[in-house]
Amino acid sequence: MLVVEGLVKRFGGFTAVSNVSFKVGQGEILGLIGPNGSGKSTIFNMLSGTFPPSAGSIKFEGEEIAGLAPHRIINRGIGRTFQIPRPFRRLTIFENVELAGFYGQGSHSRAKADEAAEKALAMVGLPTDRRAPVDGLGAAGLKKLELAKALATSPKLLLADESLGGLDEAEMDQAADMLRKIRDELGITIIWVEHIMGVLMRVVDRVMVLDHGEKISEGVPSAVSSDPKVIEVYLGTDADATQAAAAEKRR
Ligand SMILES: Nc1ncnc2c1ncn2[C@@H]1O[C@H](COP(=O)(O)OP(=O)(O)OP(=O)(O)O)[C@@H](O)[C@H]1O
Ligand SMILES: [Mg+2]
Repeated sequence: MLVVEGLVKRFGGFTAVSNVSFKVGQGEILGLIGPNGSGKSTIFNMLSGTFPPSAGSIKFEGEEIAGLAPHRIINRGIGRTFQIPRPFRRLTIFENVELAGFYGQGSHSRAKADEAAEKALAMVGLPTDRRAPVDGLGAAGLKKLELAKALATSPKLLLADESLGGLDEAEMDQAADMLRKIRDELGITIIWVEHIMGVLMRVVDRVMVLDHGEKISEGVPSAVSSDPKVIEVYLGTDADATQAAAAEKRR
């Protein structure tokens, strides 16, 4: 479904993403992990058209999409969530999702947008009551709203920039289960970015690890989590401590 080759992003003299290649198959959940600043969101920004790559190719369903504008990419079927939710606070929850459906599907039909919004809100477990306000949603609720907005654009490929840092353990598990449900029930292919390894490893089919903009490991979760290069990168970080603590509690 997605074939990325030699992707590079430079900001001035700084290389944020360095020659990264990977593939994603239809129906797969690919985990994308790496420490803070390793280039995960930058890859999403290139895949979704927020900015063009400095070099490299992005083929989606066989067609080159590198450098296309965000609205063209979303209309081809790549939806995304943002790591930092910034909903329109003066609109209701429903209106935020409806708006994503209206522009994201490219059909500009209010009826279709409403239908998409209702389905998306039900899927993520947010109120479908059209008057429910955005204020009052906590960190977990805002992340659900991000997901609902992305789903309302009817993606074939969902780029989920989750960063579950602000959530408690039960909420993290819920978020992980929800991504799996989106794949299983809606057949949507997913790339899931996260820097806490534990929850992600439980759900993904395959995982790719970035460090300083470079791909350092890729494979099934069990192989990647025992890769010495990955252990070295994660050793002693907060993310690792959180993961170890979570694994301990589950036991
Ligand atoms: N628009 C930009 N202009 C300049 N530098 C940027 C820009 N976007 C990202 N960077 C830099 O590129 C590097 C990679 O950032 P990126 O946001 O992709 O990291 P990340 O892996 O998503 O990190 P996190 O886990 O903290 O979300 C960082 O050093 C960041 O400061
Ligand atoms: Mg990020």
